Amino acid sequence: MDIKSAKFVISNSDVKKCPESNLPEYAFIGRSNVGKSSLINMLTKRKSLAKTSGRPGKTQLINHFLINQEWHLVDLPGYGYARVSKKEKKTFQKFITDYFKNRKQLVSAFILVDSRHEPQKIDLEFMQWLGEHMIPFAIIFTKVDKLKPNALERNIEDYQKKLLETWASVPPYFVTSSSKEIGRDELLNYIEEINNS
Ligand code: GTP
Ligand code: MG
Repeated sequence: MDIKSAKFVISNSDVKKCPESNLPEYAFIGRSNVGKSSLINMLTKRKSLAKTSGRPGKTQLINHFLINQEWHLVDLPGYGYARVSKKEKKTFQKFITDYFKNRKQLVSAFILVDSRHEPQKIDLEFMQWLGEHMIPFAIIFTKVDKLKPNALERNIEDYQKKLLETWASVPPYFVTSSSKEIGRDELLNYIEEINNS
């Protein structure tokens, strides 16, 4: 898919105030600092469309981006960041779970996980939660530029093994690097295929 246009639409913390159109929507979620906003900039080839930071906790709201006037890409705040209150730390922020539970336009979530790390409890819990709410998702292994190919392969295999302890099958997955522009075509083609189906 070519990206002909990418525009910021609206930020908010209330799913009811998200854009009313019926365009298909894809949302990036995952731990703070995993690279959600950077991936949006990499996919759209717009350097600072989504705000990024070396410090976790940068994205605080639900951010809608309109792509090619045809679909929405959604940047969400990260979870699992210690600076938020204890209650929020324990679970997931309510406006995020409300978004996932109520957003009819959502076609698929993408859970971003750092390709260097072993499966994290909070990510597995979030996948479980999505499963319970029948929300489709794929996994994106981020920052693969920071790993040697062998280590990446091993980590992905380990991750799949871990998932198969609780899931009957593993979801689709992608490997990306926003700094090295890895995984862009695969991800955009996947979205295009779903949009056209
Ligand atoms: P929150 O909004 O805080 O939840 O974070 P986020 O998941 O949106 O992460 P963000 O895109 O802001 O990136 C966090 C940090 O990781 C920044 O310093 C990025 O430059 C860096 N980063 C993101 N993607 C990559 C990548 O593919 N490779 C490398 N080496 N660094 C990356
Ligand atoms: Mg962000």
